[in-house]
Amino acid sequence: MEKTNVLLIGGGGREHAMAWKISRSGQLGTLYIAPGNPGTAECGTNVSLNTSDFDAVLEFVRSHETGLVVVGPEQPLVDGLADFLMEEGIAVFGPTRAAAMLEGSKEFAKDFMRDYNIPTARYRTFEAGQFEDALAYTRSEGRYPVVLKADGLAAGKGVFICDSDQEVALRLDQFRDNSAWGEAAEKVVVEEFMEGEEASVFVISDGYTAKILHNAQDHKRIGEGDTGLNTGGMGAYSPAPVLTSDLLQQVENEIIQPTITGMQINNSPYKGILYLGLMITEEGPKVVEYNCRFGDPECQVILPSLKNDLLELMIESEHQRLDEIDIELDGRYRCCVVMASGGYPESYQKGKPISGLAEIDQDSLLFLAGARDAQGEIVTSGGRVLSVVGSGKTLQGAIDHAYKNVEKISFENAYYRRDIGAKGLKRIH
Ligand code: AMP
Ligand code: GLY
Repeated sequence: MEKTNVLLIGGGGREHAMAWKISRSGQLGTLYIAPGNPGTAECGTNVSLNTSDFDAVLEFVRSHETGLVVVGPEQPLVDGLADFLMEEGIAVFGPTRAAAMLEGSKEFAKDFMRDYNIPTARYRTFEAGQFEDALAYTRSEGRYPVVLKADGLAAGKGVFICDSDQEVALRLDQFRDNSAWGEAAEKVVVEEFMEGEEASVFVISDGYTAKILHNAQDHKRIGEGDTGLNTGGMGAYSPAPVLTSDLLQQVENEIIQPTITGMQINNSPYKGILYLGLMITEEGPKVVEYNCRFGDPECQVILPSLKNDLLELMIESEHQRLDEIDIELDGRYRCCVVMASGGYPESYQKGKPISGLAEIDQDSLLFLAGARDAQGEIVTSGGRVLSVVGSGKTLQGAIDHAYKNVEKISFENAYYRRDIGAKGLKRIH
């Protein structure tokens, strides 16, 4: 069989999980990860490459005979890395800039859903010069909470759920004045608040055929019981019992198919991973957001459950042959607990030695994120430091397995939520 050299871009827990899964492929030649982390170094070769320098990426790909570039995070996709490489004849797994606008612009995504009749929250978009109109609009609607979203990429910091028009006014002022959002807040989407439980569905698409890989539930808040500040994600479990097979069918018919068809009609077929952030409301599943990549930490629970060869899926997607492939799962539950530096998502210290990494059970999985190799010792280097994935025949089994192993790992000021998966257990009992 022909082997493919792969360049994977990214360096978080998600990319460690992707590198781990790709490294198990029979079709893999050499796996390069840029920049990677000490975890990905166990799965392939880390390379220091400035991935925002597209010419440097092209030069690397040519000199290392890389047959496929896989992009983990959203920013390079929204910046057009896939377009640039594809124009040079390089195969890329990930959407073009135009297709990545489903994540890159909330206004684009909302208008797209309106045009293709895809269920989502009601909304209006306002330009920076019209923020007074936005306030007048929320006042006239008089329904709280209401959701304000910066149009562009804001690393999870551009969404506010406001309980009063005073808060709307305050947030609009912040969007107007605060340089933190830059161009991302030149437009603001004002959106109806949806009641329900959130769940994520991950889809792989070759532009024409889309298949559900699996579903999961994230835990975005820092505190137990979903309290405190928003984070990148403090843990996940899969599958999400809230997503019954009827609901998944509804997601397929009312959301996935119209999205894939709509993007074709728009002349930007969607190729890559499509992450649907959903709210399961009384009226059925509705889209909270689209993302053009795997979730982190959802990826860490999805990929271990996938029996298919991920590299093969990516290559088949590149050749538009996903219609010939069946997605196979191992039927187990998985739970991922993120260990973070105390203080995250605000300020925290770095450089703390991590102990116990070698102690965890063989059948659990460890994915590193904000960690670096300091002359042979693994030390913390970021907010979300690592994640541990447990599995079981039941959700309770997966949770117990994950925590049993998390408890073996320690570093100064380590923090993790102790209730990952509890929401799912409530649905089962
Ligand atoms: P987003 O970045 O669009 O996913 O928003 C971040 C989080 O805000 C989501 O995960 C939800 O918890 C919440 N959220 C966003 N939009 C809505 C909405 N229309 N109704 C209720 N919650 C929302
Ligand atoms: N865990 C949420 C995200 O990746 O966006």
